[in-house]
Amino acid sequence: MNKASVLQSHSQGAFDYFRSELKRRVGIAISDNKGEMIHGRLRKRLTELQLNDFDQYASHLKSLPENHAEWEIFVNCLTTNKTDFFREPEHFNFLTQELLPEWRAQKQNDFNVWCAASSTGEEPWTLSMVLHKQAKIQPFHYSILSTDIDSDVLVKAKRGVYSVAKRDEIPAEYQKESIAVGTGEIDKWFKIKDSLRSQMTFQRCNLVQSPYNLNKKFDVVFCRNVLIYFTPETISQVADGLYESTKPGGYLVIGHSESLHNVTSKWQYVKPSIYRKKG
Ligand SMILES: C[S@@+](CC[C@H](N)C(=O)[O-])C[C@H]1O[C@@H](n2cnc3c(N)ncnc32)[C@H](O)[C@@H]1O
Repeated sequence: MNKASVLQSHSQGAFDYFRSELKRRVGIAISDNKGEMIHGRLRKRLTELQLNDFDQYASHLKSLPENHAEWEIFVNCLTTNKTDFFREPEHFNFLTQELLPEWRAQKQNDFNVWCAASSTGEEPWTLSMVLHKQAKIQPFHYSILSTDIDSDVLVKAKRGVYSVAKRDEIPAEYQKESIAVGTGEIDKWFKIKDSLRSQMTFQRCNLVQSPYNLNKKFDVVFCRNVLIYFTPETISQVADGLYESTKPGGYLVIGHSESLHNVTSKWQYVKPSIYRKKG
């Protein structure tokens, strides 16, 4: 089969199978009109496996055991990883101006942050920049756990190397302390400085498989711009899982376009996109 016919060979049966498996495994719900998008994202994988069409890929997947490595690749192909440094910056102001002073007043030992859908790392590294600066002003111990279901983006997040085109997303006041721009052949890249790395841990975690195996509870969970991909039932289930992983009195921060309104949840509403666990 030539390339043109591969591109045309969209099969409704294969599409339905792909999206039902995606939903079952990681909660991402794909609407009826997203066939082109799904096939576009899987096309490269078909070529790598030297398969002729999407039906063949669906048959291949059906023949595999539940935990076969291909399922991880399948999920990695289909996640949406759009993210930026200092995205929705009001949340970082909330962190430094309200949450952290309140936490300091309680004289606790460790400030534990979980970034629960961290994509390629811009969000957890932003948290690291912000907390590093706060700890320089007034020292305290903190940790940041950075998780995602997509193992490819986790590798990029951990590497912490980005195109200089992204540098302007980082406010000037943070750049000197946080990033080092390459010179010579690597002058199109910058990396996160080592001083920001020691508090950071990376781990693969599926938000729809709670209880999570994380060994600690968190003062705040950033779970932003991932709930939009879930159905209300899945959001409710994830909200419960996050609740169990949060310390009493701890906070949940979700994306500005997301809400727990109309979702069964124990979280108490604080203000748009911010919730709190009972103290
Ligand atoms: C659009 S990005 C959001 C990144 C970042 N939180 C932000 O707001 O910029 C959504 C991320 O959620 C991750 N994701 C999707 N389903 C997930 C699940 N079930 N468990 C964990 N992460 C998931 C995707 O892999 C993707 O990296």
